[in-house]
Amino acid sequence: MSDAAQLIQKIRATLAPCRLGEWPTPLEPAPALARALGLAELALKREDRASQRYGGNKVRGLEFLLAGASPGTVFVTVGGTGSTHCLATAVHAAAAGGRAALAQFPQPVTPLSEAVATACEQRAALVVRARMRATLPVAMLEVWRRARALGPRRWIPGGGAHPRAVVGHLLAGLELTAQTAHPPDAIVLPLGTGGTAAGLALAVGALGWPTRVVGVRVAPIVIANRWRTLRLAHAARRLLAHRGVPLPAPCSLEIVDRLGEGYGHPTSDGEAARRLASEHGLTLDSTYGAKAFGLLMRRGTWNVQRVVFWHTFAVP
Ligand SMILES: Cc1ncc(COP(=O)(O)O)c(C=O)c1O
Repeated sequence: MSDAAQLIQKIRATLAPCRLGEWPTPLEPAPALARALGLAELALKREDRASQRYGGNKVRGLEFLLAGASPGTVFVTVGGTGSTHCLATAVHAAAAGGRAALAQFPQPVTPLSEAVATACEQRAALVVRARMRATLPVAMLEVWRRARALGPRRWIPGGGAHPRAVVGHLLAGLELTAQTAHPPDAIVLPLGTGGTAAGLALAVGALGWPTRVVGVRVAPIVIANRWRTLRLAHAARRLLAHRGVPLPAPCSLEIVDRLGEGYGHPTSDGEAARRLASEHGLTLDSTYGAKAFGLLMRRGTWNVQRVVFWHTFAVP
């Protein structure tokens, strides 16, 4: 068994996550897309296929965030109306014997964000929608208060951005060793609340790879930034160290801004990326994946040839 496989096993044994997904997610070569982008190699890490119930990158963290809860627990969390974190929490809370209560803020409507919003309404036990972003704290208080009547409550931070969840994304990064013959030049992913990028920075640090981890910022800078992301990575590293699993420091993180007009607002580069990906059978969402993939279409002087794209969005 490889060092990475042993590490994965040790971490799972130590933190005892619940099992919500099917691991490893595939790493799929995409030679035609690579040619279209002028890259030597492109591989897609199919986090969208994390679970048959409902996939996406958030399943990684939820295995650690839902673990150990008593039956009937109400998991209370927050996100945009089209948040796949909210939807994944609702779907997997039910699978883990609990329920979800959601506070949501409005975001621009696209066919995919609308599909996620509808699924959230169907799958969560309680949804409180703020009329505007500024009143989200009121919606959060209301949902927290009303959830008490449904059962014992457990708070899950927005986006699942918690050190325990970062450990789930670390495992995802470690999976790459068994899936690729050489470290890629770069791993490119959308950067929202930072847990996914934090875990990948820890994984690349642990593997000692020269790979660049590039987070494409798609949320406001107060949420998506290097400081918050590395703070999450260091907190996850401390958590593991306290449980006898010391890890090297996370690798450095590059952040590229592709937010455009705002969170959830499609950008022209992102939509061009979405169309190209869709011609190759890949569904990207305008909020996260399209903006991140857009970076690969407009690389400028950025010299990378072998790329892993972290495909995080699952269609409901
Ligand atoms: C589809 C999708 N991709 C990427 C992300 C970003 O992940 P993170 O919040 O861990 O930065 C999210 C976060 O909600 C997401 O829903």
